Formats: sequence, structure tokens, C-alpha cells
Amino acid sequence: MDHIKTAVVNGVATIEIARPEKKNALTQAMYTAMADAIAAALAAREVRAVLITGQPGIFTSGNDIEDFVQRPPQGEDSPVFRFMRALLECDKPVVAAVTGAAIGIGTTMLLHCDFVYVADDARLAMPFVGLALVPEYASSLLVPRLMGQRKAAEKLLLGDPFSGAEAVECGIANAVLPAAEVLPQARRVAERFNALPPGAVRDAKALMHAPHREQILQVIAAEAEIFGRRLRSPEAMEAFQAFFQKRAPDYGKF
Ligand code: COA
Repeated sequence: MDHIKTAVVNGVATIEIARPEKKNALTQAMYTAMADAIAAALAAREVRAVLITGQPGIFTSGNDIEDFVQRPPQGEDSPVFRFMRALLECDKPVVAAVTGAAIGIGTTMLLHCDFVYVADDARLAMPFVGLALVPEYASSLLVPRLMGQRKAAEKLLLGDPFSGAEAVECGIANAVLPAAEVLPQARRVAERFNALPPGAVRDAKALMHAPHREQILQVIAAEAEIFGRRLRSPEAMEAFQAFFQKRAPDYGKF
């Protein structure tokens, strides 16, 4: 899979999104490769942490919109679901290194990472409603919880983009750094787990997630049902056509 590069170096399994010509938009094949990479990282005793990164200046522009139209995700066996479930269930620490845009699922996946380092040029956004969709993978629960209802309304209802600095301020990211320092910092943090006892790390991570786990799974199921319905809606068709025609969508007729 050319668009997802994986490597294990010094105890860290790196998953690199590498489709710069399409701004790292994620296709079903790419989600499958990422889910497989997480599964391989879990199975490998020598891997102590997972690192997710993009290309310089672009983390990901989110789900590939053509894929959304051609192959809308169908339920829990879909590649995107498999990837997000693998991320949620990953019992090794996951570190994300974000430069440039992290849009849609690009921001959503950060909510499920343990450490997030962002560049001062990072631009996060969850523009689901503007695309006639709804928040996904528990973002409708986690974003208001992290930043409060008011700020969450700006990000989730209006889809307002926000900076790396704001991501830190509202608790989505650990630190904002100059772009060139993001990946080295993320790697340094991931490599620290080589010196920690893996069983204790695993148990601590499980304990941190256990109190919210059931609720998160319930919200994900509720969001997925509505998301799937909305993907096939006339409003979404207008949104996707507008994207490919490089024009603003016109929701006046709805
Ligand atoms: N799905 C499919 N193709 C995408 C894409 C996506 N999510 N994001 C970008 N691309 C494609 C563009 O269509 C374009 O293809 P082309 O060269 O064949 O015309 C190419 O990637 C470059 O994108 P472009 O928009 O010209 O780059 P930019 O630097 O001006 O803007 C973004 C970058 C990320 C801000 C912009 O591409 C964008 O907003 N993408 C859509 C984000 C989105 O809504 N994602 C879905 C969230 S649910």
C-alpha cells in the first residue's frame, strides 16, 4: 500500500499517511492498511508505542470524498470502522504528529490518541455539518466534554477551523511546536515507552479508558447510524458535487 507507509524503528511502529497529491485524503484501502498496521503493532512484542503522522504540511484532508460517494462505508465491517476500532482498542500508547491540515476524521482520530503534537501551522477542522454529515466516532461526546458546549458548537455545528495553539488550549493536543520539531518530539515521547514496563502501561491505559468506554461505544453506534443515512441524503449529494465542481454548496433548496 503506497499511500500508507509503515516502519518499526526503536520500539515505535510508525504509520505514515503518504498521499500528498490528494492532501492525504483517506480511502478505504488506506484505512484497511492503517487498521492492519495497528494490529501488527499490537502483535509485535518489541513495539512499545504507535506513531501516526502525515506529510510535511498535511496530516490528512479527511475521508476521500470520492470514496464517500463511490463506496459509502457500510456498517461495522467497513474499513474506516475497522481502523477506528483498532485505534480505540489499541492497548499500546498512540502518539500523533500533526503538521498542516487535519480535517474531518483527521481531527476525530486525534481524540482517540494518547499524545498529540501539533505544528504552529496546523489547522484542525470537523466540517461535517457543512458537508451535510454529522460528527463521528464519539466526537459529538468528546469535543463538548473537552472544550465545553459553546466552543464545541463553533467546531461541530459551524465547522470552524482552529489552530494548533487552540487545539492545545482546548485539550485536544499536548503541545504546539515549530513544524520541523513536531515529528522528532512525537518520536521522543513514543520512544520513552521503551524504558517503561509494558504491562503497567497497558493496564494504566485500560484504566484511564474504562469509565467512559461503554458510553463512547454507544455514542459511536448512534452517530454511525445517522452518518450512514446522511451520506446518502440529497443534502450530502449537493455537498459532494459542490466539492468536485469547486464551488460553494447551495442548501437553499432544502
Ligand atoms: N477527498 C478527495 N479529494 C481531496 C480531498 C478529499 N477529502 N481533499 C483534497 N482533495 C484533492 C482535491 O480534490 C485536489 O485534487 P485535484 O488536484 O485532482 O483537483 C487535490 O486533493 C488538492 O486539493 P486542493 O483543495 O487543491 O488543495 P488546497 O491546498 O487548496 O486545500 C484542503 C487543501 C485540505 C484545505 C482542501 O483540499 C480541503 O478542504 N479538502 C476537503 C476537506 C474535507 O472536507 N474533508 C472531508 C471531511 S469529512
